[in-house]
Formats: sequence, structure tokens, C-alpha cells
Amino acid sequence: MHQPVLCREVIGLLRPKPGGVYVDATLGLGGHSEAILQCGGRVVGIEWDGDAADLAAARLGPAVTVVRDSYANLPSIFDTLGLSVVDGVLLDLGVSSLQLDTGSRGFSFRQEAPLDMRMSKSTGGTAADLLRGLGERELEQILREYGEEPRARKIAAAIVRTRGKPGGDILGTTRALAEFVERLVGRHGRAHPATRVFQALRIAVNDELENLKKFLGVFDRYLRGGGRCCVISFHSLEDRLVKRAFLAKEGMTRVTKKPVRPARAEVLENPRARSAKLRCIEKN
Ligand SMILES: C[S@@+](CC[C@H](N)C(=O)[O-])C[C@H]1O[C@@H](n2cnc3c(N)ncnc32)[C@H](O)[C@@H]1O
Repeated sequence: MHQPVLCREVIGLLRPKPGGVYVDATLGLGGHSEAILQCGGRVVGIEWDGDAADLAAARLGPAVTVVRDSYANLPSIFDTLGLSVVDGVLLDLGVSSLQLDTGSRGFSFRQEAPLDMRMSKSTGGTAADLLRGLGERELEQILREYGEEPRARKIAAAIVRTRGKPGGDILGTTRALAEFVERLVGRHGRAHPATRVFQALRIAVNDELENLKKFLGVFDRYLRGGGRCCVISFHSLEDRLVKRAFLAKEGMTRVTKKPVRPARAEVLENPRARSAKLRCIEKN
């Protein structure tokens, strides 16, 4: 299995102890959870994506309590499990390799698939639904804010002008949209010109920043003294929220003043680790 991002560093900061209880709030395929188990910790794994939750549950067995829910619902999850405080919480944001590599999920324009991008099939609309329903201004704002896309206005206007027109549905599939954006703005630099558009749509479809804000507002209530929270983020919008929330927390001490970045060797082995930033905070 793929080594999870910054795994050694997360374990070094979380310091799982035998018998301690740790919440892996983005279980994914359970790579980080497995490392916690190997230290003797017990794990509650929260995962929104039913496919990933099933795979992790089958792989890790009864050692992990798998909760199929959003980490934004931390209070009700703790309530339901009858948990009050735990020894550590981990959040590893972004998309799992399972989601990126499973063509049918529509997260990547490298694979032809319906334009879906929902992490949980129980959440609202797909990326295609969103693009069909948004007004031009709203779409521009999403591309600018969530994708930090400098050509947001041009792309939004072109999508609104072209969607639903006969002669090629640009919202039909991942590649159709990616090729449309490429024809519109051309290729500059190494990244595909649709990269930021796809990031923006994924964030909007899954309400990712709102989920993160909800988590950051409450996680400290559920840590015992000395308990730590680690967050791995993958873009500046997320990292900014984490940095500000950690700075503002009372009764907590930041363990990492600067974010921990992956070593060169890890990035060479796993290019997805390239933009990862890990921050950690401890309850006093
Ligand atoms: C980068 S992956 C985690 C990989 C994991 N650490 C591992 O070792 O395999 C992020 C995971 O978080 C899940 N996720 C995203 N938003 C979520 C949410 N609001 N609540 C719970 N899980 C979420 C995704 O479905 C994805 O599986």
C-alpha cells in the first residue's frame, strides 16, 4: 500500500501511546491509522467516502472503529460513541489516492469520467450539477476564491455561454471540461490549465473549507491535557485556516511554529506530497 503523506512526522508529533485513543478524522485507506495501531494506540476512524471506509475496515479489522460520517460533525460523533476526550486527533486533508485513481469518481481530468467529485455519495449535487446551476458571478467567485484562478472571469463566462449548447457537452465528462478550459486559455507552464478549476470545483462540491472551519472550531474540546491535534493540508486556503485557528486557540500550545514539510525523498517517491504542510498543537 502507498505510504501515507508525512507518516513518520505525524507519528513523531502525535506520539501514540499504548492504550491511548486517537481519532483519525480522515481515515482514507487507513495508512496513518495503521501506524497508530502499530504503536499500540486505539483508533476511531472517520471517513465520509463509503468505498474508502469499507476498504479500510476490511484491511484494518476490528482494531479500528470506523465511523461513516463527516469530520465536520465531530460533536455528534463523540456523542454517539459516548466518548468525551481522546489522546490525539489527526486530519489529513485532500483527496485519497483511491479517489484520484478510481476514474468513475471524476476527481481527475487524467481519467475520463462523469464530472462528479463528491467525496460522499450522500452529499448534494455533483460538480456537473453545480456547473449547470450556478450564475456567472457565483461561478467566477468559486474559481477565484477556491481555485485562486487568475482567469476566473474568462473561464466562468465561457462555461456559462457554452453549457447546454448542442455539439459537445462540456459538462459531460472530466476530459470534456479540461479540454474546453485548455482550448480557452491555452497552456502555460507545467500544470494543466484546468488544475485550478478542478480544485475549485472539488472544494465547492464538498464544502471543504466550511467542514474544516467546523472542525477547527471544536476539536480542542475533545482532547485531554497533553493531547495533540495534527493537520496536514495541501493548499494555502486550508493551511491559512489551520494556522489562524491554531494561533487563536486559548489553553493550547503550538508544537510546530512553522509547518513541517515532506523531505525531498518523499516528494520524489510520491509527487502528491509536494504541497503538504503539517501543523500540530497541544492541549495544555
Ligand atoms: C488524503 S485522504 C486520507 C488518507 C489517509 N490518511 C490514509 O492514510 O490513507 C483524505 C480522506 O478524507 C476523506 N474526507 C474528505 N472530507 C471528509 C470529511 N468532511 N469527513 C470525513 N472524511 C473526509 C476523503 O474521502 C479521503 O478518503
